[in-house]
Amino acid sequence: MPLLDLVAQYAAIKDEVLPAVLGVIESQQFIMGSAVPQLEAEIAKLSRAAYGVGCASGTDALLLPLKALNLKPGDEVITTPFTFFATAGTIHNTGGTPVFVDVEPDSFNIDPAAVERAITARTRAIVPVDLFGQMANMERILELAEPRGIKVIEDACQAIGARRKVAGAWRMAGELAWVAAYSFFPSKNLGAWGDAGMMVTSDAAAAERLRKLRLHGGARQYHHDEVGTNSRLDTLQAAVLLAKLPHLAGWSATRREHAAYYAQGLAGVPQVRPPVVDAANEHIFHQYTLRVERRDELQAHLKKEGIGHAVYYPVPLHLQTCFAHLGYGRGSLPESERAAREVISLPIYPELTRAQLDRVIDAIAGFYR
Ligand SMILES: Cc1ncc(COP(=O)(O)O)c(C=O)c1O
Repeated sequence: MPLLDLVAQYAAIKDEVLPAVLGVIESQQFIMGSAVPQLEAEIAKLSRAAYGVGCASGTDALLLPLKALNLKPGDEVITTPFTFFATAGTIHNTGGTPVFVDVEPDSFNIDPAAVERAITARTRAIVPVDLFGQMANMERILELAEPRGIKVIEDACQAIGARRKVAGAWRMAGELAWVAAYSFFPSKNLGAWGDAGMMVTSDAAAAERLRKLRLHGGARQYHHDEVGTNSRLDTLQAAVLLAKLPHLAGWSATRREHAAYYAQGLAGVPQVRPPVVDAANEHIFHQYTLRVERRDELQAHLKKEGIGHAVYYPVPLHLQTCFAHLGYGRGSLPESERAAREVISLPIYPELTRAQLDRVIDAIAGFYR
């Protein structure tokens, strides 16, 4: 059983997606064809944001709003070290200094109290990540950022369609931040057939700037106000995503059902701690990530049993060689380091059967017995 079976998804939806792809091919409108603005409108609507700006990847969806901040040497951007590399790589690549702060042990998301302690006169932005499909404490982070003129760029790459109750009302991933970034990497809950990404925002000026930055910095062809890059969302990918989008809510609901089934099945295994969902959150379970004892031995056991699994993420970013110059030592962010030692992610894709979920549960329970 693989960690993710995209072939099963393809088999279920190919009759809807292939005609959409064929439509683009027959039109030969590969660059900024009509599927791109259509998808931008749909993803903005889903996020309850005013604008969607498609781009080439989730990485670029972080890079472009960071570039829009015109960071100067010494400018700081606070983020979590327990995330995919792109979150911090883009801060470095836009001239900022990543400032890593620790995560909450339950949600694995950035700890707002640690953010508060890290704010300085040089802080220009905060990049919280909605890790594994569960929103970060956006409201607290915004309370810290907004009065100080600090921008919040939400890395929602793993969390499309997730939501969180704030002051009694549901708020969507992507709704509250200045700009939020989505990835449509094929393994995501809404995955393209290649690389693709999108930014959403309700700031009209930001949307205009991001549209320019993804097209070499020019609003008009061959006229450049500033230097941007080529980061368009491919029309073929937009057509795939539009065809898949009606399934997203159902897929994420099925992932939640699988998560509940795992949690029940593993409840009697004290060496295993299923993911903790913040009471305010509706999780989309991009990953189903547990904390376990003897993690590396469990991995070997699952491998022997033919059960796909992965460790997201084995080395927190503050301990990566490329960030050694920032001077974080081992032990400096203990919750992130503990998470990196203890986590394991299990198959959670919607097409899994109960029998497959039972096999995973039995393999884990058997290992600890
Ligand atoms: C948290 C997070 N940030 C950023 C990215 C980058 O997205 P992409 O792979 O589409 O560039 C990803 C996905 O891979 C991610 O999971």
